[in-house]
Amino acid sequence: MKCRAAVLHGQDQRWQIEELTVDPPKAGEVLVQWKVAGLCHSDEHFITGDMVPPAEMLEAAGMPPFFPIIGGHEGSGVVVEVGPGVTSVAPGDHVSASFIPSCGRCRYCSTGRQNLCDAGAGAMSGGMITDGTHRHFVGGGQPVKLMAKLGTFAEYTCVAEASVIKVEPDLPLDAVALVSCGVATGWGSATKRAEVRPGDTVVVVGIGGIGINAVQGAAAAGAKRVIAVDPVEFKREKAMELGATHTFASMEEAFPAVTELTWGQMADKVIMTPGVLYGDMMQLGTALAGKGGTIVVTAIAPISQTESSVNLFELAMWNKEIKGTIFGSLNPRHDIPALLGLYREGQLKLDELITKRYSLDEINEGYQAMRDGENIRGIIVY
Ligand SMILES: NC(=O)c1ccc[n+]([C@@H]2O[C@H](COP(=O)([O-])OP(=O)(O)OC[C@H]3O[C@@H](n4cnc5c(N)ncnc54)[C@H](O)[C@@H]3O)[C@@H](O)[C@H]2O)c1
Ligand SMILES: [Zn+2]
Ligand SMILES: [Zn+2]
Repeated sequence: MKCRAAVLHGQDQRWQIEELTVDPPKAGEVLVQWKVAGLCHSDEHFITGDMVPPAEMLEAAGMPPFFPIIGGHEGSGVVVEVGPGVTSVAPGDHVSASFIPSCGRCRYCSTGRQNLCDAGAGAMSGGMITDGTHRHFVGGGQPVKLMAKLGTFAEYTCVAEASVIKVEPDLPLDAVALVSCGVATGWGSATKRAEVRPGDTVVVVGIGGIGINAVQGAAAAGAKRVIAVDPVEFKREKAMELGATHTFASMEEAFPAVTELTWGQMADKVIMTPGVLYGDMMQLGTALAGKGGTIVVTAIAPISQTESSVNLFELAMWNKEIKGTIFGSLNPRHDIPALLGLYREGQLKLDELITKRYSLDEINEGYQAMRDGENIRGIIVY
């Protein structure tokens, strides 16, 4: 079939709206009509190059060039067709994207760590998860890969059954889309990876689509203080609406204030969710955490960056820990429906996170608004 998609052909370029040819689903695959796609910062890293492996690295590994790629990994849609052997969804089902697939059988899935599923290997390379071949073609037959094997910036894509999760059909699909990446990642960064406890002091650095949900998660977990840090005033106001107790424009500004607020004890948990995590930001990121404190690294750092400013003496002597997280360390198959359940009961705010809706043709406008700090989350509605 033919449809339209936002394709990126190289670094420092704009998303191009092009005709996409999608082959029908084979065994273990489903054709999804995407209804809503979230404009997450992770797709922006392809434009800046922060998430593009250097060409020499790809060449050395015998891998094809990185571009072209169809963006989008946050999304929700409707299943149109299923291939042989698909059992968890049927045509007409509403689904959430899952940017980490969950096969249910690998070492990680079978031990409650679906965010580390082996089927997620090569999320930014090659063809289908199922058999490695391509179902998507642009420009008269050129194979095109999908961001996280999803490509929600297309009207339709063919994805592995492992990459979609059935959701209740009466839930608004924009809410479902938000939960598929940003909400779950931020919420899980606070509640699961940082293990926020009642009475904790939590600092969240960077209040975008991810950080705002770390604020919601920290507040729901009972944090005594939720300190949101962002240079943009509108983001700080939103944070106060969604559970923050204090806000600051920078980590430099937050540091003396957190010292005073906590009588020098500093934060129990620091969650790093800025748009890009540069190594030197970790100096204050780790200094904001006190004795026994946890620093969760959620934001994506430039792929080739190998240096970071961390006072290792203090890390050891203050018994601190730094933890990475993908998908907030949650289990997509359990936690996406669970978060939607909280939304249904009014305990998780989702509608309030959408700043603006765009058409697919307006995608570059949406990303410009993200760069300009205008959106908590922009979404594409098909
Ligand atoms: N680990 C994961 O599984 C995962 C999943 C999704 C997204 N991410 C990453 O999380 C990060 C945040 O994504 P997003 O969609 O929320 O981005 P966003 O652009 O919507 O928000 C980032 C926010 O950080 C703020 N910021 C920038 N520099 C700052 C600084 N020095 N101090 C304080 N605030 C600062 C910006 O003003 C902005 O409000 C990105 O790096 C994204 O790729 C990681
Ligand atoms: Zn994302
Ligand atoms: Zn698995």
